[in-house]
Amino acid sequence: MTRDYLCSADYDAAKMMELFDLAAAIKALAKRRRRLSALKGYTAALVFQKPSLRTRVTFDIGMRQLGGDAIFLGPSEISLGARESIHDIAKNLERWVDIIIARVFEQTSLEHFAAASAPPVINALSNDEHPCQAMADLFTLYEKGVKFEKTRFAFIGDGNNVCASLMIAGASLGMDVRVATPEGYEPSAAVIEKARSLARESCGGLLVTNDPRQAVSCASAVYTDTWASMHTEHEAQERRPLFTPFQVNPALLKGAEPDAVIMHCLPAHRGEEITDEVMDCKNSIVFDQAENRLHMQKAIILDCLGAVEEARREITG
Ligand code: CP
Ligand code: NVA
Repeated sequence: MTRDYLCSADYDAAKMMELFDLAAAIKALAKRRRRLSALKGYTAALVFQKPSLRTRVTFDIGMRQLGGDAIFLGPSEISLGARESIHDIAKNLERWVDIIIARVFEQTSLEHFAAASAPPVINALSNDEHPCQAMADLFTLYEKGVKFEKTRFAFIGDGNNVCASLMIAGASLGMDVRVATPEGYEPSAAVIEKARSLARESCGGLLVTNDPRQAVSCASAVYTDTWASMHTEHEAQERRPLFTPFQVNPALLKGAEPDAVIMHCLPAHRGEEITDEVMDCKNSIVFDQAENRLHMQKAIILDCLGAVEEARREITG
């Protein structure tokens, strides 16, 4: 059976743990330069309406490492809803490809794709969420032996798409999630409510504050992202002075656990949301996160295509 992966809430804690375990096995295999053939004959359409380094490369290589193929369709090939409706694009693509991996502006575009197309759809980033990023980030903590329950995880900066996906996934896993943003840049009320209710169920925690020191206090992981995202780039200049007190720098990190890991989804704006010193420090795991996009997303693709069991047989066989 196939399934879409459009937002963090699509996976509960048990599913996340199962996929972390699969990603670890797939990564170990890839380290031995072994590829799988579970997706032989399968093709992915990578429909990207925004720029990308990590997501594009890792989905493309990931499909090939699973035995399949990928075709990239950028904004110059298809401009969603302008040259053709999303419905009609989906109805065309479903005749040729087996999975649609889309980076879009509106979350509703993904929902329209999913409603119209038989092949499953994966969210490769929308204005609202970046769930594959959150899965790779949490997998990075998992493989480092972090026990999620009660682990204090601080997100500092903009209450953006990456923040939303991390809040929801982290709260499901029972983490103590703490978010600090400037006033007016908090995650949406719906995201806060969802994360709060998941945290209640998992006995985790959720704090949303405008005080970065309160958020990092005793945190074991400190995460930041760009102050202006691709869809809010036009606000970059006006945001800078408001976000400056939220820079992740050695002074702010004094309140965190001494061995706290430093996380960033990248691309980073060194000297803005994170200093060179912090980005390059020994506790920085930002490039581990980038590496793990590849392996985590292979597990997600297999799950969406209902091919997990076949891949597991190949791994153990
Ligand atoms: N972190 C991330 O999604 O990077 P790209 O925008 O380069 O894909
Ligand atoms: N919040 C960023 C994430 C980039 C990977 C953006 O949407 O631009």
